[in-house]
Amino acid sequence: MLLSEQADRRRTFAIISHPDAGKTTLTENLLLAGGAIRMAGEVAARGERRRTTSDWMKIERDRGISVSASVMTFEYRGNVYNLLDTPGHEDFSEDTYRTLTAADCAIMVLDAAKGIEPQTLKLFEVCRLRDIPIVTFINKMDREALDPLELLDQIQDQLQLDCAPLFWPAASGQRFGGMVDLRSGDFLHYSKKTADEGLTPGESPRVELESVREQVDPSALEELEEGSEMAREMLPEINKQAFLEGHMTPVVFGTALRHFGVGELLNVLEEFAPAPRPQACEKKDQPHTLERGDKGVAGFVFKIQANMDPNHRDRVAFFRICSGEFKRGMRLKINDGKQINVHNPMMFLAQDREIAETAYAGDVIGIPNHGQLRVGDSLSESGDIKFAGIPNFAPEILRRARTKDPMKAKHLRKALESLAEEGVTQLFKPSIGSDMIVGAVGALQIEVMAERMVNEYGLDVLFEVAPYNVARWIHCDDDSVLSAFLDKNKSASGTDLDDAPVYLAKNAWDVGYAQEKNPEIRFTATKERSN
Ligand code: G4P
Repeated sequence: MLLSEQADRRRTFAIISHPDAGKTTLTENLLLAGGAIRMAGEVAARGERRRTTSDWMKIERDRGISVSASVMTFEYRGNVYNLLDTPGHEDFSEDTYRTLTAADCAIMVLDAAKGIEPQTLKLFEVCRLRDIPIVTFINKMDREALDPLELLDQIQDQLQLDCAPLFWPAASGQRFGGMVDLRSGDFLHYSKKTADEGLTPGESPRVELESVREQVDPSALEELEEGSEMAREMLPEINKQAFLEGHMTPVVFGTALRHFGVGELLNVLEEFAPAPRPQACEKKDQPHTLERGDKGVAGFVFKIQANMDPNHRDRVAFFRICSGEFKRGMRLKINDGKQINVHNPMMFLAQDREIAETAYAGDVIGIPNHGQLRVGDSLSESGDIKFAGIPNFAPEILRRARTKDPMKAKHLRKALESLAEEGVTQLFKPSIGSDMIVGAVGALQIEVMAERMVNEYGLDVLFEVAPYNVARWIHCDDDSVLSAFLDKNKSASGTDLDDAPVYLAKNAWDVGYAQEKNPEIRFTATKERSN
């Protein structure tokens, strides 16, 4: 197969949702429908076995959540799907955001009884920032749901996203009878069978509504007929261009738990999800757009994961390929001029890891390394490609890190730097004093960090309340103005891991005040890493 054909058949997507909306159940069922796993429960066996393969840390097991995102690859009807897993817990980390930078498309899962929830909104905003097109899956239709029109109104009002329902449901909960395909008029009958009774995870059979009329609750049929007519009249038809530009979302209803609507969702991805998108970058320091079919491997590291194998201290860098044909053993150049030989690249097939022999644009491979690679690094065959756009996000929690044993301060600094390089947390050094200030986007990150300090570095670390609560990167086109500002605000400034200046404030009000007094200085909550 030609390079461009291989790239064209890749679909790289993530699932965004509020905790409990059903992301894990849907992931499991997408993998099942795609034939990547044979038995439900392999992604997240409930209870004790839950996520045993991907949760390697005690803290994750204890909480039954996965802190770090991973990738799962499967093939479906000739296309290769790379599903990037974003943790759905409220306490998410920067990883979640960064993972979305590596996705070309997202599935937004809503709980039909709850609609848009806070985390859906937060993750959606990141997708919008990057114009990532979104397919909506309204889950849990087997439970009493909100009125479908109300759900679509919420999407329209809160996300300013036009909704193009591709299906319309026949009621919900006990009366849920299935859904009609608004484009073809076919009816997909929902049967309450269980997996033991021969329920298959793929598409539902399509029938004429008349042939199953007797089996569907009459009031559900009435709702279906009324609702679908209204939807056809009032709501727009799907427009692929509007979807690709991130203005319109196709909507599918279903129940992941009962395997209904999942095959249809995959079909929607097949029909609409974009092949790897062109990527803006710099080539030889000039603005450039990299196309998926371009020769020469190039891509970026969006995530670093440590301890995937507890017997090794290696880190795995998740490398999203944007162009070219990657081959095992290839030598790639990091944008800082260093080289790395990729002998054992990993592919992630469902929960198994395999050595990747070849990979193309859209694919994500894991590169084991001993710390040479950092989040945001660009890797390419030529060495002259540089991507921007893997941002750091201003932490929402700042803590002063201290060891009980003052003799270990140097050791602590090294450990904190190493975790900051991995992108687990951020590290700030105030201009005055020798404090080490750790920043995290969620409280769980601090816990993960404390645990890793003990397990990996043998350090008992206290994370104390810091004198600051807010960090903002500061920029100014005029270096002398910036220096003067830093001089004047020594007690409220410092540097990050890359020595970029930061303003450390007690609260958001202080930032606003400083901004007002210093209009020529920009205070930003994100920092795109410049390599
Ligand atoms: P998450 O990853 O988004 O946090 O959600 P997850 O898939 O873990 O689902 C959260 C809960 O919702 C689970 O129940 C799951 O079984 C249930 N669920 C998911 N999809 C559906 C659906 O389509 N219909 C119904 N009725 N329930 C659904 P739980 O009780 O929290 O967990 P468990 O006891 O089933 O493990």
